[in-house]
Amino acid sequence: MTAVDGVQRTLEVALGERSYPILIGTGLVGRPDMLTPYLAGQQVMVVTNETIAPLYLERLCDSLPDDLEVRTLVLPDGEQYKTIEQVERIWSALLEAGFNRRCTLIALGGGVIGDMVGYAAAAYQRGVAFIQVPTTLLSQVDSSVGGKTGVNHPLGKNMIGAFWQPKAVLVDIDTLTTLPARELSAGLAEVIKYGFIRDETFLAWLEANMTALRRVEPEVIAEAIARSCLIKADIVTEDETEQGVRALLNLGHTFGHAIEAHQGYGNWLHGEAVGAGMAMAATLSHELGWISAADRERSLAVIKSADLPVHAPAGMSSDDFLARMRLDKKNIDTRLRLVLLEALGSACVSDAVPPDQLKTLLDQYPRR
Ligand SMILES: NC(=O)c1ccc[n+]([C@@H]2O[C@H](COP(=O)([O-])OP(=O)(O)OC[C@H]3O[C@@H](n4cnc5c(N)ncnc54)[C@H](O)[C@@H]3O)[C@@H](O)[C@H]2O)c1
Ligand SMILES: [Zn+2]
Repeated sequence: MTAVDGVQRTLEVALGERSYPILIGTGLVGRPDMLTPYLAGQQVMVVTNETIAPLYLERLCDSLPDDLEVRTLVLPDGEQYKTIEQVERIWSALLEAGFNRRCTLIALGGGVIGDMVGYAAAAYQRGVAFIQVPTTLLSQVDSSVGGKTGVNHPLGKNMIGAFWQPKAVLVDIDTLTTLPARELSAGLAEVIKYGFIRDETFLAWLEANMTALRRVEPEVIAEAIARSCLIKADIVTEDETEQGVRALLNLGHTFGHAIEAHQGYGNWLHGEAVGAGMAMAATLSHELGWISAADRERSLAVIKSADLPVHAPAGMSSDDFLARMRLDKKNIDTRLRLVLLEALGSACVSDAVPPDQLKTLLDQYPRR
């Protein structure tokens, strides 16, 4: 990590010619020197949503040099608008403005905006530059890093997309001060996930600092974001297109996606479902004899301390779970593949869980 003036942390996602920096600090949105080095040419389009526009759009645009051609586009807020129709609006706006292949898109918002703008950039004139300015904790530690972009299809979440890396990721932690507490907790689920899969020391640090994290204390939150991005960047560098180790980032997600889909998207936030899903994965890992009872308890305690659920939803049967889990993208042929814990700080992908044991776990797991 190196220090750039006023930036608390700078990391790099090392992908050869497609390498890019993640700049983490306070007061970054609004600083003229933060975005300009990463612009491809004179044409810039900033895309955001109706919730974020009144908070940060003007400040961001004011920081861009006067001689640029700057356009803005404000989309509706919500996962239900993460669609090809909204991406088409971005493409239309770019074409109407006469933007060429040297234009730059800036995604100002959470994961929904980041994923859509990234995909718009990946396909516009076969690929133009884009910059991520993530404004939720989840997008700052997860979706803005790694180049997965895309939209939902009526038949499946994130089913249409592309790998397309940004030119830079600008994480201004001040934006978290306006983020609802529930969204902050949802982002903490992904932060905890990094500790579980790769770094027991980080997990212990999270346990010790959870109160400060939930208060968004700048030094502590910057440290958590940096350590999370470092782990994600490492994994992405190793396995950009998810042929292997990148699948570990799905800890808790096979259970979690089933919960989200069963409850109807938006009723449980993604991070909440992942919190419960990680608790289920820890429980299964314990029942397989991989982690101790004490480690299982410790896992549930850290999830709870972030104000995330560890129970499954009332009214969701084991068959409801299994039907959804069989659709998971990680599965190969008919075998269910799950990310489980070999220890706290070390995860693996396993297709060796006996179906009866999984069914028993799902039958007996506490509901609320
Ligand atoms: N590309 C990836 O690798 C990847 C990884 C994880 C998740 N995702 C995707 O990310 C999306 C979820 O992202 P998210 O959790 O950021 O949700 P989101 O983008 O819907 O943002 C959550 C809510 O917070 C609001 N918001 C955002 N920033 C704010 C701020 N600073 N102050 C106040 N309100 C603010 C948004 O308008 C929205 O209402 C999902 O679509 C998911 O599929 C992608
Ligand atoms: Zn996730």
